Amino acid sequence: MHSFLMCKPEHFEVSYVINPWMAGNQGRVNTQLAAAQWQQLHDIIAARAEIQLIAPVPGLPDMVFTANGGLITRNHEVIVSSFLHPERQGESPWFRRFFLGRRYREITLENAMVFEGAGDALFDAAGRLWMGSGIRSAAGASDAIARALRIEVTNLTLLDPRWYHLDTAFCPLHNGEVIAYRKAFTADSLRSIERAFGERIIWVSDADAENFACNAVNIRHDIILYRASTALKAALAQRGYTVIEVDVSEFMKSGGSCKCLTLEL
Ligand code: ARG
Repeated sequence: MHSFLMCKPEHFEVSYVINPWMAGNQGRVNTQLAAAQWQQLHDIIAARAEIQLIAPVPGLPDMVFTANGGLITRNHEVIVSSFLHPERQGESPWFRRFFLGRRYREITLENAMVFEGAGDALFDAAGRLWMGSGIRSAAGASDAIARALRIEVTNLTLLDPRWYHLDTAFCPLHNGEVIAYRKAFTADSLRSIERAFGERIIWVSDADAENFACNAVNIRHDIILYRASTALKAALAQRGYTVIEVDVSEFMKSGGSCKCLTLEL
């Protein structure tokens, strides 16, 4: 049974700008609509997996993006995030408290390195860890995680501030494929992705990337995302996946979509 951590958007708003999607959206979130959209996403996931909730905290509007709470391993370990922006740094103690309360073993990185959790670190179906750095998480975080967890980590360098977390442009799937967006990565990083996934890469168009199609929650053969083109749906259907679209427009104003709103435990 898959298990996901979510956080009710009781205090969600766009009250600062730390990514390009948030610009111009300050004070523009429809709170009631956000609550309804979050509930819909919650219910779709709850029909397929277990959900745990962390209590929202006033003054921490981005805490709804639980993907950034930390990186969880198969061995019930957690690396709690150290956020780049002061606006989000207050979230870490709350996530830490949640994980320690559930008996996760905390692993710490040397030098309190900037690391934004499962937003920038994703396991693929083969168990390899992929790290995104260059915009939020520190470039050195890959090596630090590899040492701390004693696993192999491939660092991918992000180059465009719109694709600021790895999970905005890269989504490993259940059967070994990956959904990815070329323009988010340096040439070296594209080579790493190609070497590892080859024919199993599903590249998305600009339009799909802008609809956060890579920011998807994959539960077995279901892929839950904001919006996908007919072409992308067909490419996924060919590989046995069904796309479920959920309107999370209010969260997109903050630069986040379905996957950011969840953390797989
Ligand atoms: N406003 C949030 C931020 O900029 C959105 C985080 C989205 N999370 C993610 N995993 N991509 O930090």
